[in-house]
Amino acid sequence: MYQLSPSILSADFAILGEQLKKVEEAGADMIHIDVMDGQFVPRISYGMPVIESIRKVTALPFDVHLMVAEPFRFIEDFRECGADMLTVHAEACTHLHSAITKIKRLGMRAGVALNPATPVEFLRHVIGEVDMVLIMTVNPGFGGQKFINEMLKKPKRVMELAGEEGYPCPDIQVDGGITLSNIREVLAAGANNIVAGTSVFSGDIRANIAGFQEAFSQVSPA
Ligand code: DX5
Ligand code: ZN
Repeated sequence: MYQLSPSILSADFAILGEQLKKVEEAGADMIHIDVMDGQFVPRISYGMPVIESIRKVTALPFDVHLMVAEPFRFIEDFRECGADMLTVHAEACTHLHSAITKIKRLGMRAGVALNPATPVEFLRHVIGEVDMVLIMTVNPGFGGQKFINEMLKKPKRVMELAGEEGYPCPDIQVDGGITLSNIREVLAAGANNIVAGTSVFSGDIRANIAGFQEAFSQVSPA
């Protein structure tokens, strides 16, 4: 089953509540919330107070993507402000296994994100603990960048790695540069959870989401 996780980084923050309602009514599966710290990535986006306040306007699960150095420090805070799934970057954690364990212990689903240059192999000894692998298909930090085609190889690598280690394959999320023009290729490569910012929030949100759902109903996984 495919899921769409619209990234609010590309939303209009002056009317964020309205846009979230629209996204929910249009049938999005969860909300992708990009938290940037100005250190792991160059920009600062938003944090706990924003998440806490949008928690009141939608019932959709919150998929929080931490582009934050040493995110271990903030795991409890994000649980408290309403995260359902918490994704940390493999490159940002000195103790990745501990971070994953803590996220799960607090009742959230645990995701691990990989920058474009980080091989899937990095996850070999934690793959059995991870609920979702987030494959960055752009370098993290900005919305609206161009999809890196080389990343299409990675979903299959995640499936192989999980199989080799004797675990079921975690969800495979892809994030960055995904549009209605490349979505079919991305699904065929094996991803099942799609993050889209610009291509959901520019123009007609409802029509954009319908476009993704149509692609979901047409393509079968590799
Ligand atoms: C990039 C973020 C993405 C971003 C995707 O660092 O992790 O979630 O918002 O935006 P688009 O879909 O516009 O590339
Ligand atoms: Zn993201």
